Amino acid sequence: MARYARITGWGKYLPQKVLTNQELERLVDTSDAWIISRTGIKERRIAANDETASTMAVHAAREALKAAGLEPHCLDLVITATCTPELIFPACASLVQNSLGARKAAAFDLNAACSGFIYALATACQFITAGSYKNILVVGSEVYSRILNWKNRNTCVLFGDGAGAVVVQASDSPGSLSFVLGNDGSRAGSIYTPGPCGLNQGPYYLTMNGREVFRFAVNVICLATKQAVKAAGLELSDIDLLIPHQANTRILKSAAKAIGLPLEKVFINVDRYGNTSAASIPIALCEAIEEGRLKERDRLVLVGFGGGLSWAAMVLQWGQGKR
Ligand code: ACO
Repeated sequence: MARYARITGWGKYLPQKVLTNQELERLVDTSDAWIISRTGIKERRIAANDETASTMAVHAAREALKAAGLEPHCLDLVITATCTPELIFPACASLVQNSLGARKAAAFDLNAACSGFIYALATACQFITAGSYKNILVVGSEVYSRILNWKNRNTCVLFGDGAGAVVVQASDSPGSLSFVLGNDGSRAGSIYTPGPCGLNQGPYYLTMNGREVFRFAVNVICLATKQAVKAAGLELSDIDLLIPHQANTRILKSAAKAIGLPLEKVFINVDRYGNTSAASIPIALCEAIEEGRLKERDRLVLVGFGGGLSWAAMVLQWGQGKR
């Protein structure tokens, strides 16, 4: 029996519509200079009227399946990490399963806000190393543009839409080396979006205490990264690349400093996409691969944080192909 779970395919989808900081200047009292200096974001993508979390997920998933050389009907499970599904039920993953023709696959959604992709990837790896499943699709897909108050400058400049996907398969070589998942529900009020089943009347806009989330993020990126590296039996100096959740360049620079990792080892693309929540890490992973930032046997850390307040980190040994 194969002992390891390994990423064998990856894909991403970004909607065509680009929303620049200059365009936001016309919507709210903000400036390109403020947004760049406080967040590093220059532009983000916005889903078209006929696009949803599931349609974007399908584009990313098809690319990932193609890269893995796997037919959709070979999938055992589809997990979609999202907090912006088009329906309360059935799950976004159910719609994705149908569109792909993954007729043998089980399907469920996982909501851990911006930590969702790593939660989902860790879950997939558990199914594989337990010997239950061999081929799993993990997708992060979000349309935050639909939960933002476009009159609130505190939040609307920060987020964007997109999707990223990976295929995880059973393998004889590593693979996933460790994971750390955490949550502090006492701080649920720091960032949240109400919904139609709660006690509040709409509109259902994302609400956030930016300074609180900022401090939390820097601390938890540092802590979770160190814990995951230790759990993998490695030292920080063994790590070749850190792919963090893309929320804010300042958070990532402060965290890299606190961890003691040179900035060259931290992948950053938040300037072009803003914060795409559960989609940000798989999108960044795709771009890191496209840019040749990952070589055979490199050690990679994925780390995320967000609503919950939740956090998650994973250490992977990179390798192309199935064996
Ligand atoms: N344009 C201009 N001014 C603005 C804007 C804007 N878009 N937004 C806020 N300001 C103003 C504020 O009103 C405030 O004005 P005041 O001093 O007169 O009250 C001033 O700028 C400074 O505000 P701060 O909140 O102190 O600014 P800060 O440097 O903390 O930056 C930011 C704000 C960018 C939101 C930062 O706190 C941050 O990135 N926090 C983390 C957010 C995050 O990562 N959220 C996602 C978590 S993941 C998930 O689960 C979705």
